Amino acid sequence: MSKSKDVAKSYQHVSLFQREEGKKLIDDVQIYRGYVILDLGCGTGELSAYLSELAGQDGRVVAVDPDSYRLEVARESHREVKNLTFQEGSSASFPGMGSETYDIVFANFVFHWIQDKEEVFKNMFRSLKPAGKIAVSYADRLASIFSKIYRELQSSESMELMLSKCYFERRSKIESMCLAAGFEIVKSVDVRMEDLEFENVESMCSFFSATNQGRFVSELATRDKVSSFCAQYTGGENSKPLTLYTDEGDYYCVLIAAKP
Ligand SMILES: C[S@@+](CC[C@H](N)C(=O)[O-])C[C@H]1O[C@@H](n2cnc3c(N)ncnc32)[C@H](O)[C@@H]1O
Repeated sequence: MSKSKDVAKSYQHVSLFQREEGKKLIDDVQIYRGYVILDLGCGTGELSAYLSELAGQDGRVVAVDPDSYRLEVARESHREVKNLTFQEGSSASFPGMGSETYDIVFANFVFHWIQDKEEVFKNMFRSLKPAGKIAVSYADRLASIFSKIYRELQSSESMELMLSKCYFERRSKIESMCLAAGFEIVKSVDVRMEDLEFENVESMCSFFSATNQGRFVSELATRDKVSSFCAQYTGGENSKPLTLYTDEGDYYCVLIAAKP
């Protein structure tokens, strides 16, 4: 297995945070049987499979991601789901783009990885049926707990590398782009990030490595650094599960918008 497939497999095991928050967003937008849904930036496909279940056999889900290793893991893991297909694609190019095919475009924790956000709003708008909706969650800044993790467990170079791949945009700017594309905003809110729970220290480090697609270098997180970090920001290095305390001001954003 290549390093990148390892990272993709690891994402599947440790991405509980994204999965749980994604399910809340799905419940919020309401999926009906028969819906045609695009899961944009599907990762290893756990939420795509959940969407397929809700859409039922009369509906279908097209799940796309630019990371071929994550798609490989997604296909292997969800091959029994008949109304779900995984395809390589991105916010700039996906199946059905411009064809008013979809009832819902879902993008969970993807927007902060997308540089050209005006383009993605336009692409989503022209791909939705009239009255179709987008359901999007994203970070509009680096949460302070993540900045502590990089500061204490990584080097300034790896922090810079990670930040160079993140395209944070404030919520007000995201809303302007959404409206400019023609959408009506149904909901746009900040959601407080609850404390994160991990099985142990190793799975916490795997989470950061996997969600940043290998840009968190586990070797830099030495035993001493991890011990000092855990003493300050977790419920204790040896506690099971390991609770990582988020800060009061740590939140992410949710946007639901409809095509008139
Ligand atoms: C944090 S993961 C979220 C995966 C999945 N939505 C979930 O909730 O588990 C972000 C995903 O966005 C994908 N991604 C990055 N840039 C993208 C783009 N321009 N268009 C679509 N997906 C992108 C990454 O490959 C990655 O799988």
